[in-house]
Amino acid sequence: MAHKTLRAGVLILAGAIAAPAGTEDWSWNLPDFIPPPPVPEDNPMSEAKVDLGRHLFYDGRLSLDGTMACASCHVQSLAFSDGRAVSIGIDGEATRKNAQGLANVGYMPILTWANPHMDSIEFQALVPLFGDDPREMGSGGHDVAIFERLMADPFYADAFPKAFPEREDAQADLFTVTRALAAFQRSLTSFDSPYDRYRHGGDEDAISEAAKRGEQHFFDHRFECYHCHVGTLLTDNLQTATAPWQETGFHNTGLHAILPTRTPGLIEFTGRPEDEGRFRTPSLRNVAVTAPYMHDGSVADLAAAIAHYAQGGRGGHPGTSGLLVGFEITEAETAELIAFLESLTDETFLTDPRHADPWPEDHAARVDRAMP
Ligand code: HEC
Ligand code: HEC
Repeated sequence: MAHKTLRAGVLILAGAIAAPAGTEDWSWNLPDFIPPPPVPEDNPMSEAKVDLGRHLFYDGRLSLDGTMACASCHVQSLAFSDGRAVSIGIDGEATRKNAQGLANVGYMPILTWANPHMDSIEFQALVPLFGDDPREMGSGGHDVAIFERLMADPFYADAFPKAFPEREDAQADLFTVTRALAAFQRSLTSFDSPYDRYRHGGDEDAISEAAKRGEQHFFDHRFECYHCHVGTLLTDNLQTATAPWQETGFHNTGLHAILPTRTPGLIEFTGRPEDEGRFRTPSLRNVAVTAPYMHDGSVADLAAAIAHYAQGGRGGHPGTSGLLVGFEITEAETAELIAFLESLTDETFLTDPRHADPWPEDHAARVDRAMP
């Protein structure tokens, strides 16, 4: 079987990377079936730091002209995706990629659609903030001015020292801003969907009979979905504070051949021909609210996603995964599969006030949200 999974399988000692228990002013409030995500030693979680990170995440003043926050492209009600096929940067120009949702992002060993070197949430924030290909928030070369602008706000003058008590007179800088943003993002855990209540909570009525049949289809080798969308997060990418292994999976799902704006995929970073068109398997939690789909946003809705797999991909690319076998599926089965995918929506997460915009209506931090 031509099922090629990149199992980077980096052995990490959980103890070396997770902060020792009991030192964190933070409670994960997770259900029994999932351990917390790993937390880097230099960035322990705390209530104060997560709250600071939330204010930064929603603050337009992190962008050059004040018009764009992280939240412009990562909208809570859309599980922190943006509802667009591809994101629009600060200059109004389309980037090449679909904005990923951020639910459970702390569990992803590799971030972004296809960069195997992007393994730190702290580091990732530098890309939208300061990157120029694409220009997202446009702040490249202006970091000092941006940090000074933040520190002029009395909220931050108070919040940075509280969030980083181990640093003398903590200010906004590259270290603190990226650490606080990362702590907030690690707090975005989502495990309270109807499917969780059915599968893990013993609530037989939490999902419909159609969704239960859809679950069977999803885990049936006729359709093969579960090979790549596996485990609690429904992806073959996972790291936790206790697991000795990180799992990473990149696949070519037959989207690549006819893309108008070709993004090469994993090959861009590895140079290996077999990696062309391979992208990280996304988690399917909250997938019903993160349309349009795929790295290029080329699949409009869940029915179209299933139809894509049914036809074995768009065809034409020799590297297409051997699991894209194509299959016959009836309309009723498609509806059931969709009902299952919809049961993965965690309404508590999408409306949780702890993840919402903390700034008052008229505050300078607020930006016009790039809503679809
Ligand atoms: C202009 C829109 C835009 C803005 C603004 C933006 N992002 Fe993103 N974000 C994206 C896109 C597009 C991707 C996918 C990038 C890729 O695969 O190369 C992404 C990916 C991510 C990821 C990886 C998620 C995953 O599942 O691997 C994280 C984390 C993230 N963004 C955090 C942030 C933070 C923090 C900010 C603010 C500092 C921010 N983003 C601002 C569009 C945006
Ligand atoms: C060979 C591994 C593999 C198999 C089998 C597979 N998927 Fe995927 N799935 C992926 C990858 C990789 C992506 C992202 C592809 C991209 O953007 O280039 C993806 C994307 C998706 C998306 C879009 C999610 C988003 O956030 O954009 C949906 C929905 C989806 N798959 C559902 C399914 C269903 C339903 C099945 C079974 C019919 C299935 N997948 C089978 C690997 C797989």
